Amino acid sequence: MAKEYTCVIGSLNYDIIIKQKRLPQMGETYTADSITYSGGGKGANQAVQCAKLGYPTVMVGKVGEDSFGDKLLKNLNEYGVDCTCVKRSSLDTGVGIVHALEDGAVYATIITGANFDMKKQEIDELEELIKKSKVLILQLEIPVEIVEYILDRAKAWGVYTILNAAPAKEISREALRKVSCLIVNETEASFYAGAEITDLAGVEANREKLEALCPGTIIVTLGAKGSVLLEQGNVTPVESVKAEYVAETTGAGDSYIGAFAYGMCKGMESGEACRFASRVSSLTVQKIGAQEGMPYFNEL
Ligand code: RIB
Repeated sequence: MAKEYTCVIGSLNYDIIIKQKRLPQMGETYTADSITYSGGGKGANQAVQCAKLGYPTVMVGKVGEDSFGDKLLKNLNEYGVDCTCVKRSSLDTGVGIVHALEDGAVYATIITGANFDMKKQEIDELEELIKKSKVLILQLEIPVEIVEYILDRAKAWGVYTILNAAPAKEISREALRKVSCLIVNETEASFYAGAEITDLAGVEANREKLEALCPGTIIVTLGAKGSVLLEQGNVTPVESVKAEYVAETTGAGDSYIGAFAYGMCKGMESGEACRFASRVSSLTVQKIGAQEGMPYFNEL
């Protein structure tokens, strides 16, 4: 059977995004400018971007038996994500609290909830779905041991995997070596390389450490400084596409990953997929909320 969908196994969060000029000081009660409720979670965000671009996308994950879970599923269905493999958990739906400051800085806290209610046996039950996916996308907002297990299975089944190793967490070196494409931002790259990486020069200086983590493709996203593709010994800097206007940046990295996966599924070579992803994510930041801001293909 032809491989005609992307599968995302990961988190779904109900995001509460608070726009404020600055963070409060200890003991201070601070008045924010606005609050926005939005569908989030790195897994769901990446699935939504891929689906909004028009590629069939299946989401695997868990939400609670609560109104947040209902809203997340409703959103995903409206964006065209296949949610038949999103199950209900007795734990509450995951939540993301995002403080978006006037200077563009973002401080995020997540409550994992139902996202951590995933078992290896449930992965085994999805063998056919995973085997037949063109690209499998994972992040680290579900238990790391489950991600390690999926990577092991996917490698055995010959499935192309993208691991967005975010948030940065200890994961076995053996599992990382099974990843086809590792995508990290500058904070995560610094964590895994054990050295500060903030720009292209930092990626170049720590290239060997990064390449030692994953023999496949590595992409380091650097926000407004663009991204860097490390592949087969080559370093390819990819310029960012300047956004006309920045409303809020939550989910911009997820938009990049969903768009990169779309590009790979559509047969783009990886450099082209990175440039396409930069263009797509530059549009995402123009609206508040991760999923709402992500563009449909006809908006590009
Ligand atoms: O990457 C952004 C996402 O991280 C947010 O939607 C939040 O829920 C956290 O998972």
